[in-house]
Amino acid sequence: GKVVLAFSGGLDTSICIPLLREHYGFDEIITVAVDVGQPPEEIARATEKGRMLADKHYTIDAKEKFVSDCIFPSIRANGSYEGYPMGTALARPLIATEVVKIAKREGASKVAHGCTGKGNDQLRFDFIFRTAGYDIIAPMREMNLTREWEIAYAQEHNIPVSAVKEKPYSIDENCWSRSIEGGKLEDTAFHPPEDIYAWTVSPKDAPDVVEEISIEFERGVPVALNGERLAGLDLVRELNRIAGRNGVGRNDMIEDRILGLKAREVYEHPAATVLLTAHTDLEHLVLTRSEIAFKRIVDEKWSELAYMGVVHEPLFHALTTFIDTTQERVNGTVEIGLYKGSATVLGRRSEAALYSSDLVSFDSMMLDQKHAVGFSNYFGLQARLLKNLEKR
Ligand code: ARG
Ligand code: SIN
Repeated sequence: GKVVLAFSGGLDTSICIPLLREHYGFDEIITVAVDVGQPPEEIARATEKGRMLADKHYTIDAKEKFVSDCIFPSIRANGSYEGYPMGTALARPLIATEVVKIAKREGASKVAHGCTGKGNDQLRFDFIFRTAGYDIIAPMREMNLTREWEIAYAQEHNIPVSAVKEKPYSIDENCWSRSIEGGKLEDTAFHPPEDIYAWTVSPKDAPDVVEEISIEFERGVPVALNGERLAGLDLVRELNRIAGRNGVGRNDMIEDRILGLKAREVYEHPAATVLLTAHTDLEHLVLTRSEIAFKRIVDEKWSELAYMGVVHEPLFHALTTFIDTTQERVNGTVEIGLYKGSATVLGRRSEAALYSSDLVSFDSMMLDQKHAVGFSNYFGLQARLLKNLEKR
């Protein structure tokens, strides 16, 4: 039979190829690497390994789709989970969907992934695969393999593992975020060594001057950086460089996975940190108090569903529709100061601002302050009545 494997070129998915052949008995293995902004050398390695080890290989460029269909909606929703901007979670449904497209084209009825049975990614892949009606093969979780066994098995099958020995971490990267887990990081008390980071300098090594940048938003998505209009992917990449050199966007945390396991996760997401900071700030300038308060709840729920990867859940679409409606007015420019690991809003402006200096200013006479006395007479009325009862 035929099987289509979601392929990254890392150790796990590489050994899946001989496993699918020898252990599962497939005679045609098709690998699919989906480019969502991994480092070009990682995509090149996946392409090379797929061609070498599988019967047929596809590399799909989904970078722009990832930005427009996954990252932008996540900015609009201030998408974050337990305090960090989601990244892996946003890419998995897209990767799985591209794999399904190939399975359809190739007439395969089975699809495979290399996720373990302990993490979130298995659930995100499975959800898309099952929704599309495919049988799932997941050798890593079905065979309960250890790292050591995997390395030995890879060596027997002439699969290069040098990179695994140098950097014994599980790294997942796309253009929005980079996650590092496993290896020594599994000791929650272990301090992350500097060499696990690739996108950010240590804040202590960042320049001693504030780097000021500006970001322009239209309908809740960034369209220009420092006054220059850029396509989404270019903007995100450029901002990763700028914020990364200022040490912005590191995160070391204990995360609650969907299954309930706690995991130690380290992240880098410089552009995401800056864009979510700027976007949230701009919302406060242009949305009403009611909209902001309600949207925080919607954002939270949207993020929870996005984290799980259940992108076909009807509630997810309903929440996205609400969010999109609010974003019609999220237009404007935010200035940010980057300094040794922090991203601070310095100023913001918008034609859609609900802010009026004429009304709020200490120096303005546009409002008759005496009118506030009438409001104040009724303000907190019920609590005051209760206090009076208690006095008696
Ligand atoms: N914990 C993060 C998430 O669930 C990152 C997972 C990283 N995946 C990986 N294969 N290293 O989104
Ligand atoms: C894995 O366990 O396959 C990676 C981590 C995750 O899915 O959360």
